[in-house]
Amino acid sequence: MAKKAAVKGRNKITIIGAGNIGATCAHWAAQKELGDIVLVDIVEGVPQGKGLDLFEASPIEGFDSNIIGTQSYKDTANSDVVVITAGLPRKPGMSRDDLLNMNTKIVKAVTGQACKYSPNATIIVVSNPLDAMVYVAQKVSGFPQHRVFGQAGVLDSARFRAFIAMELGVSVEDVQAMVLGGHGDSMVPLLSYTTVGGIPIKHLVDKERLAQMVDRTRKGGGEIVALLKTGSAFYAPSAATIQMVESVLRDKKRVIPCAAWLTGQYGIKDVYCGVPIIVGAGGVERILEIPLSQSELKALRKSASDVRALIQALKI
Ligand code: APR
Repeated sequence: MAKKAAVKGRNKITIIGAGNIGATCAHWAAQKELGDIVLVDIVEGVPQGKGLDLFEASPIEGFDSNIIGTQSYKDTANSDVVVITAGLPRKPGMSRDDLLNMNTKIVKAVTGQACKYSPNATIIVVSNPLDAMVYVAQKVSGFPQHRVFGQAGVLDSARFRAFIAMELGVSVEDVQAMVLGGHGDSMVPLLSYTTVGGIPIKHLVDKERLAQMVDRTRKGGGEIVALLKTGSAFYAPSAATIQMVESVLRDKKRVIPCAAWLTGQYGIKDVYCGVPIIVGAGGVERILEIPLSQSELKALRKSASDVRALIQALKI
């Protein structure tokens, strides 16, 4: 009898932090049937409750994913992807950078545990301040840099795309945009690569209106924080994260902006910064170096140097 090829079961996704972003990540991932899901949180009962609740939705929505919640990292063993959302969210008036010290401690602790049990995983970091937290996760895990990257540009680009679609009254699907740089006030929207149905944006929106949309994108996180009063955005951040997870698990090779480790691209070295990358089974498979205007390049380098300053202040 012919030997059967070994069957790899479902993928396994660990999501650390079962708060707003983590739980909503689980929701999108389950609906896309990306694999079995383990939710981890420091608060007892919360990941268990949310995991069970989501699993109870599966007969209705028709997805086959085992979903569990736990405090034990043993349950996360052999995950293919680990998403880190643990941390404290921004409060009104608090900058992302204020979170630095508090979230460094948390990300350090959870990464140490997770990578012990899943030495071959790809790590996707969401906790803020993003670019610095990706650095922490990479250092603590010791994983190759292409297997540790961060979610920022997909969200920032999605916000910009949403504002453009709203302004023009067109389908969001037809709006393409790319926002690079650090996930903070110094993000760099690339207007020359922003198109609507293939038409460069400058032919459709005047300069002043475009500048207002860029400004709204820059402050996109703060706008939601101010509206919610408690907590920060979670639907779009989690959808952005799961787009990255899907591209890894399904080896889709999406071309998306993510916080990746730079080794000289764009004249930037030894820092995580948002650049266009190809995301596949190998994590960051390629960093695309595209022509930028002088001012865009300057802004990207400034953004990277802001991240570098943060990293230098880290105690890890
Ligand atoms: N281990 C596991 N979970 C932790 C730990 C820890 N050491 N410390 C905190 N958490 C959990 C909290 O208990 C909480 O459930 O992380 C979760 C964070 O969830 P929320 O407070 O709802 O925050 P959320 O909006 O999901 O944002 C998470 O992403 O965008 C960033 O700035 C945001 O850093 C924040 C993170």
